[in-house]
Order: sequence, then C-alpha cells, then structure tokens
Amino acid sequence: MKITVVGLGYIGLPTAILFAKYGNTVAGVDLSPIMTENLNAGHLHIEEPGLAEDLQQALALGNFHASTTPVSADAYIIAVPTPNKYDLYKSCNTAYVESALMSIIPHLKKNDTIIVESTIAPRTMRDIVQPMIENEGFTVGEDIYLAHCPERVLPGNIMHELVHNPRIIGGITTKCTEKAAAVYGAFVEGEIIKAEAGEAELSKLMENTYRDVNIALANELAKISNHLEIDALRVIEMANKHPRVNLHQPGPGVGGHCLAVDPYFVIAAAPEQSPLMQVAREVNNSMPTHVVSQVKALMAEQDGNRVTIFGLTYKGNIDDTRESPAMEIKEMLIESGFDVKTFDPHVASEILTGEEACEDSSLILVLSDHSEFRDIPASYTDKMRHQILFDTKNMVQTVSDDVTYLNYGNLHTRKRVISI
Ligand SMILES: NC(=O)c1ccc[n+]([C@@H]2O[C@H](COP(=O)([O-])OP(=O)(O)OC[C@H]3O[C@@H](n4cnc5c(N)ncnc54)[C@H](O)[C@@H]3O)[C@@H](O)[C@H]2O)c1
Repeated sequence: MKITVVGLGYIGLPTAILFAKYGNTVAGVDLSPIMTENLNAGHLHIEEPGLAEDLQQALALGNFHASTTPVSADAYIIAVPTPNKYDLYKSCNTAYVESALMSIIPHLKKNDTIIVESTIAPRTMRDIVQPMIENEGFTVGEDIYLAHCPERVLPGNIMHELVHNPRIIGGITTKCTEKAAAVYGAFVEGEIIKAEAGEAELSKLMENTYRDVNIALANELAKISNHLEIDALRVIEMANKHPRVNLHQPGPGVGGHCLAVDPYFVIAAAPEQSPLMQVAREVNNSMPTHVVSQVKALMAEQDGNRVTIFGLTYKGNIDDTRESPAMEIKEMLIESGFDVKTFDPHVASEILTGEEACEDSSLILVLSDHSEFRDIPASYTDKMRHQILFDTKNMVQTVSDDVTYLNYGNLHTRKRVISI
C-alpha cells in the first residue's frame, strides 16, 4: 500500500516509519526542508527508543522518503498539531489540520482513505473535514473514506505501543471505518475498536479529561486537608483500599500537551453542559498559585531568600517542559523576589548540579517526579542555609535526618521529619 503521512513529529514520524518497516511505500511530509533532508540521510530530530533503528531499516528497504510536498497515495494520515485557540473556552485550533488537508486534496483519487490522527474536538470530522472533501466533488463513504483514529501512545514507549495498544477507528460511515481498519491491519496487533467518528473524537478527549478531573479532585483534597490539618496522603491511601475507589495524587498543577489542552476542546464544544470540567481546569490551574503561597509561608519563617526547584518538566523522567506548572511556579517565585535556583537532570539546558543548586538555599521545592529525586544525597542538603524540603509530588523516599521534609500530607505541621 502507498501511504502519505503529513506531519513528522512525535506521532507522525514513528507511524510513518512503522508502516514502511512493515512493507508499505511511505512518503513522509513536513514543512521543514532541513528536517526532511536529515530524515532521508538517517538523522532523527526527535528522541524515541527504537526509532533510529527502524528508520535505518525503512531507508535500507527503500520504503520511506521524506519531503515537503505530499505525493499521491492510497491512504493519507494526518498527524499535525492541534493547539488551543486564544478564545473564550480555548477551543481546538484546526488550522494545521485544514492546511494539511488542502495540501493532499490535489492528489486525491477515487477509493482513497484519509485518516486524521491529530487530537480534534468532537464533530470536527463531520463539520470541518467532511465538507472540505465534499466541496471537491467527492462523496464521503462512496469514493473517499474518512476516519478519525486518535493516538494514545506514551512517549518513551511509542514504537511498542503503536503496535500493541488497542486502536479506535472512527469512520464517518461503516465503510470508512472498514477501510481505515484495513490500513492499520498492516502492523497493529492490539484490538481494533470500530466506532463512529464522533465517538472516537470524544472518547480520546474523555480519557484525558477523566485524568484531569480526577487530579483536580486530589488537588482540592490537598487544599481541604491542609486547611483542616489532616494528612491528605493518608486519606488517599486509605480511601483507595476501597475496591471501587481510585483517588489520584495531588501535585503542583497539570501540564503537558494533552491533559492541560484536550479538556478545553470538549468544554468549548459544549460549554453549558460541562461545568464540572471547567471547574476542574480552574482547580488545576490554581495549583501553581497555591504552591507559591505555601512557599511564601515557609520562607517567611527563614532569614534566607534562596529557593531551589527540583524538576521543571510536567511529568517525571522526560525532558519536556511544555505547559509545565513548574515553569509557571519558577516565574512566579522570581516575580515575588526569591532568588531561584533550578536543578533538572533531564533538561539539557539546566547546567547546575544538585550541590550547586542547593548551596545557601533555604528550601528545596520538588515539582517533578524524576526518579533521581527518590534519594536525595546529603551532599545536596549539607550546604543549605535551612534544610527544608517541600515535595509536591510525594516522590522523595530518603533524605538526611537533618532535613525537615514536607509534602501534602504534613504541610500543615511544618515540623515533622521524614521517617526513612
Ligand atoms: N505527542 C504525543 O504524545 C501525542 C499523543 C496523543 C496525541 N497527540 C496528538 O497528535 C497530534 C500531533 O502531535 P505531535 O506531538 O506529533 O506534534 P509535533 O509538534 O511533534 O509534530 C507535528 C508536525 O507537524 C508538522 N506540520 C504542521 N503543519 C503541517 C502541514 N500543513 N504539513 C506538513 N507538516 C505539518 C510540524 O512541522 C511538526 O513537525 C496533535 O494533535 C497531538 O495532540 C500527540
């Protein structure tokens, strides 16, 4: 099968390479000539385990070629960004999807399949994509087949998950679903779940919204417990012994390009029907301010002014700081007049060692759950002015006995020392 993949980022490139590896002729399309030339020479612009080897294999087979313009194919896969718009409800910006569609329209012929993998708002396939194709004289479901197939892979494990995850295939018609399912049959070993386009769009968005709302509940519990002087983490641990309860963990806020983005697509599509989701977003967005006010209270008790942030990424063991609450907290602390040092072993631009970042500091603030933060060596904390650590991720397992360890469980006490 000939396949054209438009958008060669974290999702499009691994997808394109897998199709090529499994014997299809794949044209990869992106806007950057340097990136596409580099790919043809075997050089990657993203880090993903296993991808470099598979790219080499696809190039050696002669099955993959990247360029800046689409070529004619049997199936087109669109994996371009869908950020929020800057409007009232931060709705889904489909401009990249629309321009990707415009670029393939001149190549379309009867019987072709178009699959949108980008995360999109509910009804985008019916209200935006289908009319664009039908304006060109095609009848969707009869001579062009349209489907939305959302992506749920975990960065760091993409090459495995693309093959093994269950795959939702949401066609405009049943025939569209069958045609798109046949495309993924090339390599997908996970369950193929056949659906209607709107169901596929909304189910992907609800996966991330479910997590966002549940994290908001945990964050609200952390605030309530702090106010009532009750250990929130013990409450969560005990409540989760109930066989049908799964309270999430509180943190410094919600970031990244999925949880902090996708719920708005649902909210904007149905604002009057989504008060719970809107409040959840507000609760999670309020957490950086909450953390900063706790830091101010803790620092008011000290004579120093230096705060050391451990972790700038939006989740643990990755290098991605996009939409990270840690970056927001850092800026807010600087604006509040603190001397802020940062330590993040996963972010290449962060140059300080743990020892350097902690020197003369009065507080360590853990904002990402990197595994390096599980055991904090005494060499980091020995040279602090005041040895206090506030762990918003409940990540630290061992730290020197001299350090006052605080998390959402004991923040209200401000004096309990970690028992190792
Ligand atoms: N990254 C993830 O973990 C993840 C997970 C699930 C869903 N998604 C969704 O998948 C989609 C793509 O995400 P990503 O992380 O791969 O994005 P990305 O930013 O890594 O890559 C997108 C690529 O598309 C290219 N592009 C933009 N417009 C184009 C056009 N008109 N023609 C050709 N190329 C174009 C960009 O240059 C970029 O290289 C988004 O909708 C995202 O929400 C991403």
